[in-house]
Amino acid sequence: MAKTLLSTTLFAAFAVAFLAAQTTAEDVFVVGGPMGWLVPPGGPIAYATWAALQSFEDGDILVFNFTTGEQDVARVTKEAFESCDTKNPIWIEKNGPARFTLAYGGDYYFISTLDRHCQLGQKLSVNVTGPPGPTTSPALVPSRPRAPMNYTVGDVLGWFVPPGGSIFYSAWAKNKAFVVGDTLVFNFINRTQDVAVVTKADYETCETDRPITTYTTSPARYTLTSPGMTYFTSTYDDHCELGQRLAINVVAATARPPSGSTMPPSGSAMPPSGSAMSPSGSPAPTSGLPQSSAPSLAVMSFFYLTILSIATSFVL
Ligand SMILES: *[C@@H]1O[C@H](CO)[C@@H](O)[C@H](O)[C@H]1NC(C)=O
Ligand SMILES: *[C@@H]1O[C@H](CO)[C@@H](O)[C@H](O)[C@H]1NC(C)=O
Ligand SMILES: *[C@@H]1O[C@H](CO)[C@@H](O)[C@H](O)[C@H]1NC(C)=O
Ligand SMILES: *[C@@H]1O[C@H](CO)[C@@H](O)[C@H](O)[C@H]1NC(C)=O
Repeated sequence: MAKTLLSTTLFAAFAVAFLAAQTTAEDVFVVGGPMGWLVPPGGPIAYATWAALQSFEDGDILVFNFTTGEQDVARVTKEAFESCDTKNPIWIEKNGPARFTLAYGGDYYFISTLDRHCQLGQKLSVNVTGPPGPTTSPALVPSRPRAPMNYTVGDVLGWFVPPGGSIFYSAWAKNKAFVVGDTLVFNFINRTQDVAVVTKADYETCETDRPITTYTTSPARYTLTSPGMTYFTSTYDDHCELGQRLAINVVAATARPPSGSTMPPSGSAMPPSGSAMSPSGSPAPTSGLPQSSAPSLAVMSFFYLTILSIATSFVL
């Protein structure tokens, strides 16, 4: 009883402090005002109340004021926020005070990854007004270095002229994180295709007479050596026009951001500029939140079924 009374009183005091703090109409917001970033005595309503009293615009900066070693702060997906899943944060900072730039419009979710801090209410969601971020979901950019991966382009179907056009390869690439050091493996039948690395302009116009590099034997392995958009097609007649083309956004292998405060938008783990380009046929940019993989799964399944029925009709 006494305990309840105490925390109610404490919370009321914090609420007053929030109200006093909310008039600072600046670009830098200290999360929770004077309370800072901790397990709030009043539960999750503490940060919800604080956030409701602010208005955030793109470019604003959140400062999570905490003592290094006692708290941390992580940006997570909506789902992870709701379930307090601390396993795969989009961004994490263990040194306080931590700054995070709200680079784009949209919803952002933050929690503490320690013990039961999130369950006990150390969680914050904010609504940011402003234009949405680029297509590549920040959730796809690994928050810590990972081992290089091999990607088999087109999976079991490989590298060919897809029956439905280039949407096949944009669907394949969607929701995959390509990091410098990863390798693309192109499987095809020798002398029926090749793999040409081309410029953006040549990719867009299907100009295949001057590729940067060409690989003529299968399997062709291409290791991603630099960040940015990378474009592939085949130099065989009409293959590019018919949809044998792939554009991927390669991101730098992430290094730990320098500890401390003046962290630029790197806090939001955005891909390099130019990444807002979406390969032709892929949907228009949406918010910076993770996108459902459903559309790409649907498209892929459709193609697998198409191929299967074509193959079956040959056999029968
Ligand atoms: C962060 O918290 C410390 C200790 O409570 C306080 O001295 C400091 O002023 C706070 N910093 C900000 C930016 O509010
Ligand atoms: C942001 O605002 C929209 C519309 O007002 C609301 O539906 C949504 O729940 C808000 N998101 C967060 C994280 O508060
Ligand atoms: C990628 O492929 C190479 C060559 O086949 C192999 O040596 C390597 O172990 C593979 N890497 C992964 C992560 O599977
Ligand atoms: C393609 O040709 C290369 C070199 O002649 C050979 O090593 C490779 O096995 C061939 N690949 C296929 C899929 O036939």
